[in-house]
Amino acid sequence: MRLGIVAEPVGENRVAVTPTTVTKILALGYEVVVEAGAGSRSSFSDAAYAGAGAEVVDRDTAWASDVVLRVNAPSDEEIARLRPDAVMIGLLAPALSPELLEKLAARGVTALAMDAMPRISRAQSMDVLSSMSNIAGYRAVVEAAHEFGRFFTGQVTAAGKVPPAKVLVAGAGVAGLAAIGAASSLGAVVRATDPRPEVADQVRSIGGEYLAVEVEEQMESSDGYAKATSEAYDRRAAEIYSEQAADVDIIITTALIPGRPAPKLITEADVASMKPGSVIVDMAASMGGNVAGSVAGERIVTDNGVTILGYTDLAGRLPQQASQLYGTNLLNLLKLVTPAGDGELALDFDDIVQRAVTVTRSGEVTWPPPPVQVSAAPAAAPQTAAPAPTPEPKRGLSTAGRNWLFAAGIAALFAICAVAPAPLPQHFLVLTLSVVVGFYVIGMVTHALHTPLMAVTNAISGIIVVGAMLQLSLDDPLVQILAAAAVLVASINVFGGFAVTRRMLAMFQKGGER
Ligand code: NAI
Repeated sequence: MRLGIVAEPVGENRVAVTPTTVTKILALGYEVVVEAGAGSRSSFSDAAYAGAGAEVVDRDTAWASDVVLRVNAPSDEEIARLRPDAVMIGLLAPALSPELLEKLAARGVTALAMDAMPRISRAQSMDVLSSMSNIAGYRAVVEAAHEFGRFFTGQVTAAGKVPPAKVLVAGAGVAGLAAIGAASSLGAVVRATDPRPEVADQVRSIGGEYLAVEVEEQMESSDGYAKATSEAYDRRAAEIYSEQAADVDIIITTALIPGRPAPKLITEADVASMKPGSVIVDMAASMGGNVAGSVAGERIVTDNGVTILGYTDLAGRLPQQASQLYGTNLLNLLKLVTPAGDGELALDFDDIVQRAVTVTRSGEVTWPPPPVQVSAAPAAAPQTAAPAPTPEPKRGLSTAGRNWLFAAGIAALFAICAVAPAPLPQHFLVLTLSVVVGFYVIGMVTHALHTPLMAVTNAISGIIVVGAMLQLSLDDPLVQILAAAAVLVASINVFGGFAVTRRMLAMFQKGGER
């Protein structure tokens, strides 16, 4: 099939596919054409596309392809250019644009909405909302730093001491975490709020301080996404925002609740209490905004000198990176819908991912899809907010019971040592001490390092290899068989541990695909 990369409307700097991704799409068996100039605003020349194996064509030819790839939704004029049996893939915002879906269906086009990707683990490599939010969160910090008239980091210079900037991030989802990471790596003091208590550890792990909104009635987060917060929560959160607004230099808001307008978090009074020169980036501006006075797409300066940015194109302000990630998300979808790798797009409606993204098919609107169970649910999140009013009934042994059991165990150990023949008592002593030492050593190592730690502790079983090798020289065939088995199993333990660690560390190494 012929796959066309078409140019984006004015104001959009991204392009659906970069030259690097073209090569990979060709490997799927497709013929690729690119509208002349499609990548110019993201610095990808026509020559680069041609060099990657695509054919550079005019607008009519590109839009007449079997599969049309785009970032933005098509206009009416562009829908008319699509072939009736074409497949159109892009950000179609199906929940917000029923008319667009009607028009695409009327044209007979099969439309796949990248922004309807279900948020399940299997679809993560195609999740454009995450890849774009990540870029947007980073860029929000860059925009704030550009407007802010001071350093982010604190410094001690010959000309005086500079305090670090204080940044508040409201909402610690994908965009919020990217903003926290970027601001703290610039040296700012970063604080963050989110009604989902399970994000507290994530915030801390990237250098932020989690401000828990402590209310008795906790928000339920059964699927890992925020629900509308309670009145009690909003009241306490409002107090925190008022305290913080008077203290911080920069506020970045990212709070969204799926299927609803953005919650209002920062009031006019909060903005008025901020110091002149402070900056607010309202990343939720396109959904109604989290900040009083923010305007989607605009830069506003208030009477007290606070700059409020409501930019809605933050990801597009890093067009090369955003295009590369968007293109990779597209490529992963193409791999899924091209199971034979023969350049033929074959949709499987029984597959929940393909069903979820297909918003029109053969003249029919197929949105909304049947509900998909998302995989963002936290695994037994720790309660970081206020304790529940009634204490949890205790399960298992009480503390006193555990202490008695421990004491009985020690007494039994001493009794065994007293009657057992040598060298058993020494072995018991060594075993007991190693259990105690191991318990404390492993307990002190941070969770993230447990895999490398296990690899090293596995290597201790190298001593079994040495012992078993010594036994191999004995004449008894049974001993030799057992020794050989011990060498094999212990070696798997040693080398397997390092292989797993190596694989894990490789996942965190830089230098992959751009
Ligand atoms: P989002 O864009 O819907 O919301 C942004 C953030 O705003 C969320 O963290 C939300 O809790 C927060 N928020 C909502 N109401 C708020 C309020 N009143 N005050 C302050 N903050 C408020 O969410 P996003 O970033 O798209 O994803 C949320 C989570 O979903 C992620 O942290 C991740 O754990 C999970 N996820 C899973 C994916 C997968 O499995 N494929 C893909 C993407 C996200």
